[in-house]
Amino acid sequence: MNPVHLELKNVSKNVFRRVNNNMVRTQILSNLDLKVNKGELVTIMGASGSGKSTLLRLINRLSETDSGIILLKGNDIRSYVPMELRRRIGMVFQVPVAFKGSVRDNLSFGIKLWGGNTGIETLSRDTGIPGNLLDADAGQLSTGEKQRVSIARALGNQPEILLLDEPTSSLDAVSEQRIEKLLLDLQKERDLTILWVTHEKEQAQRIGGKRLILREGRLEHA
Ligand SMILES: Nc1ncnc2c1ncn2[C@@H]1O[C@H](COP(=O)(O)OP(=O)(O)OP(=O)(O)O)[C@@H](O)[C@H]1O
Ligand SMILES: [Mg+2]
Repeated sequence: MNPVHLELKNVSKNVFRRVNNNMVRTQILSNLDLKVNKGELVTIMGASGSGKSTLLRLINRLSETDSGIILLKGNDIRSYVPMELRRRIGMVFQVPVAFKGSVRDNLSFGIKLWGGNTGIETLSRDTGIPGNLLDADAGQLSTGEKQRVSIARALGNQPEILLLDEPTSSLDAVSEQRIEKLLLDLQKERDLTILWVTHEKEQAQRIGGKRLILREGRLEHA
Protein backbone atom coordinates (compact mmCIF):
# COMPACT_ATOMS: atom_id res chain seq x y z
CA MET A 1 0.00 0.00 0.00
CA ASN A 2 1.38 3.38 -0.99
CA PRO A 3 1.79 6.05 1.68
CA VAL A 4 -0.84 8.73 2.17
CA HIS A 5 0.10 11.69 -0.02
CA LEU A 6 -2.69 14.13 0.62
CA GLU A 7 -5.10 14.24 3.51
CA LEU A 8 -8.01 16.53 4.32
CA LYS A 9 -9.28 16.37 7.89
CA ASN A 10 -12.53 17.91 8.97
CA VAL A 11 -12.32 20.64 6.32
CA SER A 12 -15.08 23.25 6.17
CA LYS A 13 -15.46 26.20 3.86
CA ASN A 14 -18.07 28.94 3.94
CA VAL A 15 -18.96 31.37 1.18
CA PHE A 16 -21.14 34.45 1.27
CA ARG A 17 -24.10 34.56 -1.06
CA ARG A 18 -26.30 37.51 -1.80
CA VAL A 19 -29.93 36.71 -0.97
CA ASN A 20 -32.47 39.58 -1.21
CA ASN A 21 -29.66 42.11 -0.86
CA ASN A 22 -28.30 40.43 2.28
CA MET A 23 -25.05 38.51 2.35
CA VAL A 24 -25.80 35.07 3.74
CA ARG A 25 -23.06 32.77 4.95
CA THR A 26 -23.39 29.28 3.46
CA GLN A 27 -21.28 26.28 4.30
CA ILE A 28 -20.18 24.76 1.01
CA LEU A 29 -17.81 22.09 2.42
CA SER A 30 -18.78 20.55 5.77
CA ASN A 31 -16.29 18.64 7.90
CA LEU A 32 -15.00 16.92 4.81
CA ASP A 33 -12.42 14.12 5.07
CA LEU A 34 -10.30 12.66 2.27
CA LYS A 35 -7.16 10.54 2.04
CA VAL A 36 -5.33 10.09 -1.26
CA ASN A 37 -2.36 7.74 -1.57
CA LYS A 38 0.78 8.43 -3.57
CA GLY A 39 0.16 7.69 -7.27
CA GLU A 40 -3.59 7.31 -6.78
CA LEU A 41 -6.19 8.69 -9.19
CA VAL A 42 -9.40 10.01 -7.66
CA THR A 43 -12.32 11.37 -9.66
CA ILE A 44 -14.71 13.83 -8.05
CA MET A 45 -18.19 14.36 -9.41
CA GLY A 46 -21.04 16.44 -8.04
CA ALA A 47 -23.78 18.83 -9.06
CA SER A 48 -22.92 22.26 -10.38
CA GLY A 49 -22.27 24.54 -7.42
CA SER A 50 -21.59 21.64 -5.04
CA GLY A 51 -18.09 22.97 -4.33
CA LYS A 52 -15.76 20.86 -6.53
CA SER A 53 -13.67 23.80 -7.74
CA THR A 54 -13.69 25.28 -4.25
CA LEU A 55 -12.30 21.99 -2.92
CA LEU A 56 -9.42 21.93 -5.44
CA ARG A 57 -8.64 25.59 -4.78
CA LEU A 58 -8.21 24.89 -1.07
CA ILE A 59 -5.60 22.23 -1.79
CA ASN A 60 -3.13 24.60 -3.42
CA ARG A 61 -4.21 27.58 -1.32
CA LEU A 62 -5.89 29.66 -3.99
CA SER A 63 -8.46 29.79 -1.20
CA GLU A 64 -8.23 29.13 2.56
CA THR A 65 -10.20 26.70 4.72
CA ASP A 66 -12.42 28.07 7.48
CA SER A 67 -11.60 25.10 9.67
CA GLY A 68 -9.88 21.73 9.48
CA ILE A 69 -6.47 20.89 8.12
CA ILE A 70 -4.94 19.81 4.81
CA LEU A 71 -1.74 17.74 4.91
CA LEU A 72 0.76 17.13 2.15
CA LYS A 73 2.92 14.13 3.10
CA GLY A 74 1.82 14.66 6.68
CA ASN A 75 2.75 18.37 6.79
CA ASP A 76 0.21 21.16 7.03
CA ILE A 77 0.09 22.83 3.59
CA ARG A 78 0.35 26.17 5.40
CA SER A 79 3.89 25.23 6.41
CA TYR A 80 4.97 25.50 2.73
CA VAL A 81 5.69 28.80 1.02
CA PRO A 82 2.69 29.16 -1.37
CA MET A 83 4.92 29.20 -4.47
CA GLU A 84 6.59 25.97 -3.39
CA LEU A 85 3.23 24.41 -2.57
CA ARG A 86 1.93 25.30 -6.06
CA ARG A 87 5.05 23.88 -7.64
CA ARG A 88 4.35 20.56 -5.90
CA ILE A 89 0.61 20.72 -6.52
CA GLY A 90 -0.10 21.72 -10.13
CA MET A 91 -3.53 22.76 -11.35
CA VAL A 92 -5.20 22.57 -14.75
CA PHE A 93 -8.39 24.56 -15.27
CA GLN A 94 -11.52 23.98 -17.32
CA VAL A 95 -10.73 26.80 -19.72
CA PRO A 96 -7.09 26.52 -20.75
CA VAL A 97 -4.94 29.47 -19.82
CA ALA A 98 -2.19 30.49 -22.24
CA PHE A 99 0.39 32.90 -20.87
CA LYS A 100 1.49 35.74 -23.12
CA GLY A 101 4.19 34.78 -25.61
CA SER A 102 5.08 31.67 -27.59
CA VAL A 103 4.40 28.04 -26.71
CA ARG A 104 8.10 27.79 -25.86
CA ASP A 105 7.75 30.74 -23.43
CA ASN A 106 4.81 28.99 -21.77
CA LEU A 107 6.73 25.72 -21.42
CA SER A 108 9.92 27.32 -20.14
CA PHE A 109 8.05 29.08 -17.33
CA GLY A 110 8.47 26.36 -14.69
CA ILE A 111 11.90 25.36 -15.92
CA LYS A 112 13.18 28.93 -15.51
CA LEU A 113 11.51 29.28 -12.14
CA TRP A 114 12.67 26.00 -10.65
CA GLY A 115 15.52 24.87 -12.85
CA GLY A 116 13.81 21.50 -13.25
CA ASN A 117 15.50 18.72 -15.16
CA THR A 118 12.79 18.30 -17.80
CA GLY A 119 13.66 20.21 -20.98
CA ILE A 120 11.21 21.88 -23.35
CA GLU A 121 11.70 19.12 -25.93
CA THR A 122 10.80 16.40 -23.42
CA LEU A 123 7.79 18.33 -22.18
CA SER A 124 6.45 18.98 -25.65
CA ARG A 125 7.08 15.38 -26.73
CA ASP A 126 5.44 13.95 -23.59
CA THR A 127 2.38 16.14 -24.03
CA GLY A 128 2.09 15.65 -27.81
CA ILE A 129 2.85 19.23 -28.81
CA PRO A 130 4.46 19.13 -32.27
CA GLY A 131 7.87 20.81 -32.55
CA ASN A 132 6.64 23.20 -35.23
CA LEU A 133 4.19 24.73 -32.72
CA LEU A 134 6.88 25.71 -30.23
CA ASP A 135 7.40 29.16 -31.72
CA ALA A 136 3.71 29.84 -32.37
CA ASP A 137 1.89 32.49 -30.34
CA ALA A 138 0.23 30.51 -27.53
CA GLY A 139 -2.82 32.79 -27.64
CA GLN A 140 -3.56 31.70 -31.22
CA LEU A 141 -3.73 27.95 -30.56
CA SER A 142 -6.90 25.87 -30.67
CA THR A 143 -8.53 25.09 -27.32
CA GLY A 144 -7.24 21.49 -27.36
CA GLU A 145 -3.71 22.65 -28.15
CA LYS A 146 -3.90 25.30 -25.43
CA GLN A 147 -4.98 22.65 -22.93
CA ARG A 148 -1.92 20.56 -23.86
CA VAL A 149 0.22 23.65 -23.29
CA SER A 150 -1.44 24.20 -19.88
CA ILE A 151 -0.74 20.59 -18.93
CA ALA A 152 2.86 20.81 -20.19
CA ARG A 153 3.36 24.05 -18.30
CA ALA A 154 2.04 22.49 -15.08
CA LEU A 155 4.36 19.49 -15.59
CA GLY A 156 7.35 21.81 -16.10
CA ASN A 157 7.20 22.47 -12.36
CA GLN A 158 7.79 18.75 -11.66
CA PRO A 159 4.61 18.48 -9.55
CA GLU A 160 3.81 15.50 -7.33
CA ILE A 161 0.08 16.11 -7.46
CA LEU A 162 -2.15 17.34 -10.28
CA LEU A 163 -5.50 18.98 -9.59
CA LEU A 164 -7.61 18.78 -12.74
CA ASP A 165 -10.74 20.93 -12.79
CA GLU A 166 -12.85 19.59 -15.66
CA PRO A 167 -9.81 19.76 -17.95
CA THR A 168 -11.62 18.41 -21.01
CA SER A 169 -15.03 20.03 -20.73
CA SER A 170 -14.28 22.74 -23.31
CA LEU A 171 -12.95 20.20 -25.84
CA ASP A 172 -14.55 18.18 -28.65
CA ALA A 173 -14.87 14.41 -28.16
CA VAL A 174 -11.67 13.54 -30.06
CA SER A 175 -9.50 16.07 -28.20
CA GLU A 176 -11.16 15.00 -24.95
CA GLN A 177 -10.13 11.37 -25.36
CA ARG A 178 -6.62 12.34 -26.43
CA ILE A 179 -6.17 14.51 -23.33
CA GLU A 180 -7.58 11.72 -21.15
CA LYS A 181 -5.04 9.28 -22.56
CA LEU A 182 -2.25 11.82 -22.19
CA LEU A 183 -3.07 12.47 -18.52
CA LEU A 184 -3.39 8.75 -17.72
CA ASP A 185 -0.06 7.98 -19.45
CA LEU A 186 1.64 10.80 -17.56
CA GLN A 187 0.15 9.59 -14.30
CA LYS A 188 1.74 6.16 -14.79
CA GLU A 189 5.08 7.42 -16.12
CA ARG A 190 5.54 9.99 -13.38
CA ASP A 191 3.65 8.25 -10.57
CA LEU A 192 1.50 11.36 -10.20
CA THR A 193 -1.26 11.63 -7.66
CA ILE A 194 -4.32 13.04 -9.44
CA LEU A 195 -7.58 14.60 -8.28
CA TRP A 196 -9.77 14.89 -11.35
CA VAL A 197 -13.03 16.83 -11.19
CA THR A 198 -15.49 15.87 -13.90
CA HIS A 199 -19.21 16.29 -14.43
CA GLU A 200 -19.36 13.34 -16.83
CA LYS A 201 -20.12 9.96 -15.34
CA GLU A 202 -18.89 8.28 -18.52
CA GLN A 203 -15.55 10.03 -18.20
CA ALA A 204 -15.16 8.98 -14.57
CA GLN A 205 -15.88 5.39 -15.64
CA ARG A 206 -13.46 5.56 -18.58
CA ILE A 207 -10.52 6.90 -16.63
CA GLY A 208 -10.98 4.54 -13.68
CA GLY A 209 -9.55 5.22 -10.25
CA LYS A 210 -11.49 5.83 -7.08
CA ARG A 211 -14.82 7.53 -7.78
CA LEU A 212 -16.20 10.04 -5.29
CA ILE A 213 -19.20 12.37 -5.30
CA LEU A 214 -19.38 15.68 -3.50
CA ARG A 215 -22.81 15.89 -1.93
CA GLU A 216 -24.01 18.24 0.78
CA GLY A 217 -20.48 19.34 1.54
CA ARG A 218 -18.96 15.88 1.93
CA LEU A 219 -17.33 13.25 -0.25
CA GLU A 220 -19.14 9.94 -0.67
CA HIS A 221 -18.21 6.85 -2.68
CA ALA A 222 -19.92 6.93 -6.08
N1 LIG B 1 -15.23 33.31 -3.80
C1 LIG B 1 -16.52 33.02 -3.71
N2 LIG B 1 -17.39 33.90 -3.18
C2 LIG B 1 -18.70 33.62 -3.08
N3 LIG B 1 -19.23 32.46 -3.48
C3 LIG B 1 -18.41 31.55 -4.01
C4 LIG B 1 -17.02 31.76 -4.17
N4 LIG B 1 -16.46 30.67 -4.73
C5 LIG B 1 -17.48 29.81 -4.92
N5 LIG B 1 -18.64 30.32 -4.49
C6 LIG B 1 -19.94 29.64 -4.48
O1 LIG B 1 -19.73 28.36 -3.91
C7 LIG B 1 -20.48 27.39 -4.59
C8 LIG B 1 -19.57 26.31 -5.10
O2 LIG B 1 -18.83 26.80 -6.19
P1 LIG B 1 -17.84 25.89 -7.00
O3 LIG B 1 -17.32 26.74 -8.09
O4 LIG B 1 -16.85 25.29 -6.09
O5 LIG B 1 -18.82 24.75 -7.55
P2 LIG B 1 -18.51 23.59 -8.59
O6 LIG B 1 -18.94 22.31 -7.95
O7 LIG B 1 -17.11 23.68 -9.06
O8 LIG B 1 -19.53 23.94 -9.77
P3 LIG B 1 -19.40 23.69 -11.36
O9 LIG B 1 -19.70 22.24 -11.58
O10 LIG B 1 -20.44 24.59 -11.93
O11 LIG B 1 -18.01 24.10 -11.77
C9 LIG B 1 -21.26 28.14 -5.67
O12 LIG B 1 -22.53 28.40 -5.19
C10 LIG B 1 -20.48 29.41 -5.86
O13 LIG B 1 -21.32 30.44 -6.27
MG1 LIG C 1 -16.25 24.10 -10.93
